[in-house]
Amino acid sequence: MPIEQTEPKKKYWEKIRELEMTKFPEFKNIEVYTPPDTKEYFYFSPSWYFHAGMITEADVKDLIRKDSKILSVGSGPAFLERMLADLGIKKENIILSDINEAVLPKNFKYFVFDMYGKWNIPEQEKYDLIIFPESTFLHERYEDDIEKEKALYGLISEALKHLKSGGEIRITHNFAEIDKYIQSVRERLTRESNGVQFIENNKRVLTVKMI
Ligand SMILES: C[S@@+](CC[C@H](N)C(=O)[O-])C[C@H]1O[C@@H](n2cnc3c(N)ncnc32)[C@H](O)[C@@H]1O
Repeated sequence: MPIEQTEPKKKYWEKIRELEMTKFPEFKNIEVYTPPDTKEYFYFSPSWYFHAGMITEADVKDLIRKDSKILSVGSGPAFLERMLADLGIKKENIILSDINEAVLPKNFKYFVFDMYGKWNIPEQEKYDLIIFPESTFLHERYEDDIEKEKALYGLISEALKHLKSGGEIRITHNFAEIDKYIQSVRERLTRESNGVQFIENNKRVLTVKMI
């Protein structure tokens, strides 16, 4: 009897990779795209975020099932967020934001503000998930550890004002030394007892959960 050859099961991020190659030709050959008309920013493919673990298949199912609201801070042209809408998350539940209005797709609800300043979002707006997809530039903006720690604390505190209980904040980063100042940020947030349950760093993704 011939032995049946079975294809190895595709990981979810690999499925997303296939989808994005058709949906976004920018990422056909590479997962980071630099628009030719600007040297300012580069953008990341949706699969890149699934691969990094910032968002998982279980998250997508959960977000759909619970009708959850997401805020993306520094979404840029929102490749990830547009893919999430294609995967079944309601478009009206995906809110974008950026410092630069010009890059934001106009067919989504969005806010324009500097994440390091006062957030231009009505106080009553609350989200289940707040993501910072490759947008903080913490390691480039600030020189010393004290400044970085202060800036990280500021970002999390501002995001917490708009997080529902049980919600999560997820920040992607690529700076190894982040562990140095997460501890003090965690201690400070715990001391202020504003409902923060944990701060966890998983290689590329920092997660903050609200009780
Ligand atoms: C590297 S791009 C990533 C964009 C998108 N999240 C992605 O994954 O393709 C960084 C984005 O963050 C935005 N950004 C940079 N500094 C910001 C700030 N201080 N406040 C809000 N957005 C900012 C930029 O305008 C840009 O769209």
